[in-house]
Amino acid sequence: MNLEQKLAELKRRDALAEAGGGEERRARQHKEGKMSARERVEFLLDEGTFEEFDKMITHRCVDFGMDKQKVYGDGFVTGYGRIEGRLVFVFAQDFTVFGGSLSEANAAKIVKIMDMAVKVGAPVIGLNDSGGARIQEGVMSLAGYADIFLRNTLASGVIPQISAIMGPCAGGAVYSPAITDFILMVDQTSYMFVTGPDVIKTVTHEEVTKDQLGGALTHNETSGVAHFMAHDDAECLSMVRELFSFIPSNNLDDPPRRECTDPADRADREIDSIVPAESNQPYDIKDVISRVVDDGYFFEVHEHYARNLVVGFARMNGRPVGVVANQPAFLAGVLDINASTKGARFVRFCDAFNIPLITFEDVPGFLPGTQQEYGGIIRHGAKLLFAFAEATVPKITVITRKAYGGAYCVMSSKHIRTDVNYAWPTAEIAVMGPEGAVNIVYRRELEKAGANSEADAARAQKIEEFRERFANPYIAAERGYIDAVILPRETRKRLIDALAMLETKRDKNPPKKHGNIPL
Ligand code: HXC
Repeated sequence: MNLEQKLAELKRRDALAEAGGGEERRARQHKEGKMSARERVEFLLDEGTFEEFDKMITHRCVDFGMDKQKVYGDGFVTGYGRIEGRLVFVFAQDFTVFGGSLSEANAAKIVKIMDMAVKVGAPVIGLNDSGGARIQEGVMSLAGYADIFLRNTLASGVIPQISAIMGPCAGGAVYSPAITDFILMVDQTSYMFVTGPDVIKTVTHEEVTKDQLGGALTHNETSGVAHFMAHDDAECLSMVRELFSFIPSNNLDDPPRRECTDPADRADREIDSIVPAESNQPYDIKDVISRVVDDGYFFEVHEHYARNLVVGFARMNGRPVGVVANQPAFLAGVLDINASTKGARFVRFCDAFNIPLITFEDVPGFLPGTQQEYGGIIRHGAKLLFAFAEATVPKITVITRKAYGGAYCVMSSKHIRTDVNYAWPTAEIAVMGPEGAVNIVYRRELEKAGANSEADAARAQKIEEFRERFANPYIAAERGYIDAVILPRETRKRLIDALAMLETKRDKNPPKKHGNIPL
């Protein structure tokens, strides 16, 4: 071969790798509204920055005629590139090659970039579109999965790991994403399940569609497995880029800051009247968040799940923060099992990656009832408490209205190492609401008085007494549990000042192998 032929041979092999599973299968992918694996990588990364590894890897399976079906790259596109100039590692599964299934050979490609990502401290973004373990390879494919699971676990809390689910993902293909930090799904074209509808029908005789079982809405709204839902591939990949803009490349870095043109001392008078005069009237906590953060921009995480607690990212004077907020507009902002686990997971992510936490609190307590108790609200609620208590990033809390009972302690109270605790004048900090308190403390007296207008008036008076005494922030302020009672309109400035003061915060937990969060 002369030089020209050698160059042409490389070109020929490159083209083979790029053809994937062939034109027909690629056309099917497009017809379903999905991009090809390579198109996805190109769309995700800054233009021209993708450097591919292992483009010419092939599988080594000879059973079931597999030796005659080899595709360069073996169905995975892997390598590194840039997002807004920042280094990321990426893999994309190509459904046109054996359904994007995982083989011994292509698992090693993922392992290679994960090991490198940990070494250089850059995130791994997985674009998943896979039928799970490659059936023809048997245990070699299972071994490949386990190799990846181990690395997902060891990399957890060291580098961010983001999983976009962009097609059917079954079996092992769901467990690797499940260990990562964030899962995004594309509506109508992506599915996640441990076992599909056919197996379910055989084993339990239950009939369910793919979408009902593991579609984007199911996992965003019902199971909470997924954190984001996109309408198509392009939106999904744009969301990955957006998410990455709030988080650092690794656990030793700070999150990236941006220029901020929104004045740090912007006072918003309308915020003064957001909390209704009646204590049991709802309002939307997202109105408060968007009025406080830079440019009103809040990037919500887990938007469709446990809507009684709102979590997400925003910037304060250009600096990324994690926001956790009770939502009075949904179930009165009560803490239940789902809200607790949602909050705990988010708090732990922020703590692992040096993202300060801002908590807006308006919570009537934990949700009572057998359903919650049997479901283990004690254990799950304890997760949120544990997560806030162990977090050593800067923590700031603003109590907008109710801070009742155990929920007062849990929601980043002073007692669990929160650095700065503010309350609005509308705050009510007590063991429980005045009605509940009177019913318990004066039960015997009320029973004796019976049901008549005099008794009703006496009861109302006692409720008022309780309200006067406890439904305010001042007892907590007298004890120093609240650092300052602030005007709502000053919230943005006070938070930005506190974050600046906490810039050099150092705090750590006692040396240990790891804590035992109540899972
Ligand atoms: C090898 C596979 C495959 C697999 C799909 N294909 N899954 N090849 N191993 N696991 C191939 C098909 O043979 C087909 O090849 C092509 O991919 C497209 O598949 P279709 O079935 O035509 O596509 P679709 O109708 O869209 O259905 C997609 C699907 C289905 C829902 C993913 O293919 C499916 O159920 N696959 C099996 C899922 C599964 O049970 N996987 C193993 C899980 S066990 P051609 O040549 O026709 O294009 C597991 C263990 C790990 O993963 C556990 C770790 C904890």
